[in-house]
Amino acid sequence: MAFTKKDILDIDSLSVEEISMILNTAEGMKEISQRPVKKVPTLRGKTIVLFFQEPSTRTRLSFDVAAKRLSADSLAISKSSSSMVKGETLVDTAKNLEAMSPDVIVMRHSSSGAPHLIAKRVKASVINAGDGIHAHPSQALLDLMSVKEKKGRIEGLKIAITGDISHSRVARSDIAGFTKMGAEVVVSAPLTMIPKGIKALGCKLADDMESCVENADVIMMLRIQKERQGAMLFPGEREYASLFGLNRKRLNLAKKDVVVMHPGPLNRGVEIDSDIADGKYSIILNQVTNGVALRMALFYLVAGGGKRNADKA
Ligand code: CP
Repeated sequence: MAFTKKDILDIDSLSVEEISMILNTAEGMKEISQRPVKKVPTLRGKTIVLFFQEPSTRTRLSFDVAAKRLSADSLAISKSSSSMVKGETLVDTAKNLEAMSPDVIVMRHSSSGAPHLIAKRVKASVINAGDGIHAHPSQALLDLMSVKEKKGRIEGLKIAITGDISHSRVARSDIAGFTKMGAEVVVSAPLTMIPKGIKALGCKLADDMESCVENADVIMMLRIQKERQGAMLFPGEREYASLFGLNRKRLNLAKKDVVVMHPGPLNRGVEIDSDIADGKYSIILNQVTNGVALRMALFYLVAGGGKRNADKA
């Protein structure tokens, strides 16, 4: 099968076969990061723009590292350092980027749908690095990769997701990805952090965190996204932690070989206790390691190894 997608905008627009192809490609890419010289010439001569209009540590750096490991030229633009502070619109900014002939634009934006808008207007491939509360497809793909690596499969697993589901693009993309690949996804959160119509996404809603994590193969904890909440949606962090924080007692309800995940950044002592985040069940830093390989795979498939590019050669 050839990979023919121009853009990676959300999980919904990827088929099971395309997701499997991305995961298989990423597994192959992982070995490059373990070599003494962590660089291959695969994307030499390709230009990748990292266009981040929201803060990021893991996503921006791992896309940058991924580009460099494939020998592509990467350059970064942020809102505060661009002419957007002088009033230039997003579309005009993107058209000006396009005029410099990039091959890929990686884009993070606070508005849901911004990468989709730009993808329709530029010839370059657009990869969504997180848009508003909508989607974070590369995070979901690296989460799938991390679970497959640890469990050997995704199908049939129980994935428990707890946290600010309403404001989490990671939650939406993870629910879409894990259900599409045959897992059962159960979510829990204060009712003020559950979006209307949550079950239409294909997941179950647990009455409390205890029933959510019971017999889970994977526990995925999410950060409370204070920056996206208009008003406080819970009385206080201490109360939130007592009802929805991952502690030893709740962890013990899950399967014996459970893995604990978190997309980062962590609020230690709020959604997750430090001894769990740093403990033997945690694969939080494996997620970060896999993020580099997964993003190398995305660059390779949209800019190097896909049918779209093979036809151009
Ligand atoms: N997981 C994630 O998106 O982290 P950053 O915001 O640091 O990129």
